[in-house]
Amino acid sequence: MKVTKICCIGAGYVGGPTMAIIAQKCPQIQVTVVDLNAERIAAWNDVDVNNIPIYEPGLSEIVKEARGRNLFFSTEVDAAIDEADMIFISVNTPTKTYGKGKGMAADLKYIELCARQIARVSKSNKIVVEKSTLPVRTAEAIKSILDNTGNGVKFQILSNPEFLAEGTAVQDLLQPDRILIGGDTTEEGQKAIQALVEVYANWVPEDKILTTNVWSSELSKLTANAFLAQRISSINAMSELCEKTGADVNEVARAIGMDSRIGPKFLKASVGFGGSCFQKDILNLVYIAKSYGLQEVADYWEQVIIMNDHQKRRFSGNIVKTLYNTVSDKKIAFLGWAFKKDTNDTRESAAIYVADDLINENASLAIYDPKVSPKKVLADLDYLETRATSVNAERVQSFQNPYQACEGAHAVAVLTEWDEFVTYDWQKIYEAMQKPAFVFDGRNILDKTALEKIGFVYQAIGS
Ligand code: NAD
Ligand code: UGA
Repeated sequence: MKVTKICCIGAGYVGGPTMAIIAQKCPQIQVTVVDLNAERIAAWNDVDVNNIPIYEPGLSEIVKEARGRNLFFSTEVDAAIDEADMIFISVNTPTKTYGKGKGMAADLKYIELCARQIARVSKSNKIVVEKSTLPVRTAEAIKSILDNTGNGVKFQILSNPEFLAEGTAVQDLLQPDRILIGGDTTEEGQKAIQALVEVYANWVPEDKILTTNVWSSELSKLTANAFLAQRISSINAMSELCEKTGADVNEVARAIGMDSRIGPKFLKASVGFGGSCFQKDILNLVYIAKSYGLQEVADYWEQVIIMNDHQKRRFSGNIVKTLYNTVSDKKIAFLGWAFKKDTNDTRESAAIYVADDLINENASLAIYDPKVSPKKVLADLDYLETRATSVNAERVQSFQNPYQACEGAHAVAVLTEWDEFVTYDWQKIYEAMQKPAFVFDGRNILDKTALEKIGFVYQAIGS
């Protein structure tokens, strides 16, 4: 079967970039991305491509090339489902905030709504692709909804998890390490797999396209994120030991990374990992393990989260301790709010939690991030519901200019590893700060020797 029309439900960080690349690489396929969020769709359709809702290096150029040709963004979900022969579900799967599994399990209500909508609208056979990250065996629930419409329409369900990282989404999509497609072992299942393989084969070498059964594919995605996050918690755990012993975590990371069995990537000690997925997916994994009675497996993975929470608290605690045990009414400048560089995404960013701790200590925060709006900073803090919105607004001010953010500050904390921070005139920043002037580098990106020469008291993670 040849796919000619694709619909993707969910125009977020995954749906938007993934479909833009499919449209760019497969001009023969019509790709329609739909979302309930009209504001988001309007932004994707903005005449000025620089206003698309997601910042990713290289993305706006690709959208510009394909939009209106074979890439469309729309709020008309039913129409797009009806027309398509392949439907990607790329909606959010956040941690449940209520009921059974609250704070751990994935909330699958958006997934189920999609399945029900597809069941209701479809008049012809379709391949439904799970693009969202889902608990293992979710395809079973989707199948049960789709197979009970009574209208004779046949569905094949595939799992095709996404491995892109934000900030490098375009590169990751253009040159993926692998594409994973899970499907039924039946003849129809294999045909559906082949249809999706052919879509990717337009730009991905076939030896990088891996096919498995559905359950392996679903579980591989959770496993990949768990392993990646575990590396960060492992090096962060060592960073604390380094600080006590005189070892330097950068040197340790380099030394172990040269072992080809360990490898050099993902060993950067930091203020803690953020992002919408690592924590959510590991909590989900822990919940799944517990639900099968596998307590030791659950405990093992939960430790990755416990360590990460500790790392964030340790960073804020160290700021307070170093500033003579009080930050009350002291100005502390934050360089960075996004959860990593080259994205405007702030979900679960370590900066939010560090800020929350410091506001509890009555600090005044001055925030600068090249891609995050002042409104978003406040919304992130309000979302925690630690205190009244008015108090957050009083304690936190955002700046368009990093030098102004740092002016008069007692300390500068680096929360995101934006490249531009390294290039600043640190002499100028020093001169405008309170003395002693402290720098807490939560990303180990600044030059310790140069900063100390200027006069800063400089503290990094893990040395
Ligand atoms: P997101 O919140 O940015 O986007 C999801 C979109 O789905 C939202 O715009 C929302 O309005 C829309 N939506 C929800 N229910 C809908 C419905 N019934 N009909 C139409 N639209 C609906 O989320 P995201 O970051 O793109 O993540 C989506 C999934 O992909 C998650 O499962 C996530 O774990 C996974 N994932 C994310 C990343 C990443 O880097 N963000 C990477 C790999 C996998
Ligand atoms: C991560 C995975 O890398 C992707 O493969 C996956 O598709 C995605 O999650 C997902 O499922 O959502 P992402 O969260 O976008 O991607 O970004 P990462 O580069 O993984 O960074 C996550 C966090 O870890 C960031 O806060 C980053 O600063 C931090 N990090 C990363 C470190 O502290 N040290 C490192 O060495 C690497």
